[in-house]
Amino acid sequence: MSSKTARAEFHDQTPKAESFRDCVIEGLSGREKSIPCRFLYDERGSELFEAICELPEYYPTRTEMGILEANAGEIGTLMGPHCQLVEFGSGSSRKVRILLNAFDRPSSYVAIEISREALKEASDAVAGLFPDISVVAVCADYMAPMDLSKIPEAEGRRLGFFPGSTIGNLEPAEAINFLAGCRRVVGSKGAMLVGVDLKKDPQVLHDAYNDAQGVTAEFSLNLLARINRELKGDFDIARFAHDASYSEERGRIEIFIRSEADQIVTVDGESFRFKAGERIHTEDSCKYTVTEFQQLAARAGFTAMRCWTDPAKLFSVHLLRPT
Ligand code: AVI
Repeated sequence: MSSKTARAEFHDQTPKAESFRDCVIEGLSGREKSIPCRFLYDERGSELFEAICELPEYYPTRTEMGILEANAGEIGTLMGPHCQLVEFGSGSSRKVRILLNAFDRPSSYVAIEISREALKEASDAVAGLFPDISVVAVCADYMAPMDLSKIPEAEGRRLGFFPGSTIGNLEPAEAINFLAGCRRVVGSKGAMLVGVDLKKDPQVLHDAYNDAQGVTAEFSLNLLARINRELKGDFDIARFAHDASYSEERGRIEIFIRSEADQIVTVDGESFRFKAGERIHTEDSCKYTVTEFQQLAARAGFTAMRCWTDPAKLFSVHLLRPT
């Protein structure tokens, strides 16, 4: 029976706010302009990303959900009863519900998410839907070392969950570091379940990041709108364009915002010159073959247990155990 009053236990480990201003000024001052992709996700950016996930061209979200739905029972069997799920960057906690529904009496769900409001809403919703599971919400940056010592030990094994191919937004060296941190969190008896977008026909990849409706372009350019809103910027957004292409050599989608004219932009009193065609690097989305990702995971101390893909081999879900 579900109870609407069930609430998640809240742990606050919010890091000291980093300065959006300092990162933007520094990023626009370099010879090659760049702004870290984490700044794409203000409230409007997060809404636009949710819309991207529904686009016909953006296959990762629905394909991963399909893989999880088809294989959650087997994943649950491999993990055993009373498993504790720990999700890194839990967002809306939508995908984890597929696992919680299929697992054998999962004991608890630990949601780690930096966005406090999204975390509260999503973890309370999970607590309401699964009243027999204890839900712990940790407001923290999952990329930074965090203290999970106050989280109750699981009766069963601990499964770290990192879906969505967010691992692809990290450089391979950062991805190895991140996974090595996850290995410490899940412990020697635990495991990691990671969603990874696969290498495929470059046209399919190109279309996924250049949708016909222009939602991805709006998501990119929202970064300039955010700078205008929050940092007294004067970007004329009509004179910039979204620029996403697949580099076969690097095996990644590379995303930039391109200046369409020679222009000068001011941000919080500082001026930046753009030549026509000059670009701000905002995001990379690395794609892997199954073997390439297993090799990367091995460098973080994980051995592949199982890997599931969809019939069209668009996306992969890897179950990894500490070596
Ligand atoms: C969040 N991340 C996995 C998305 C991706 O596909 O790399 C971000 C994204 N950027 C543009 N479209 C989607």
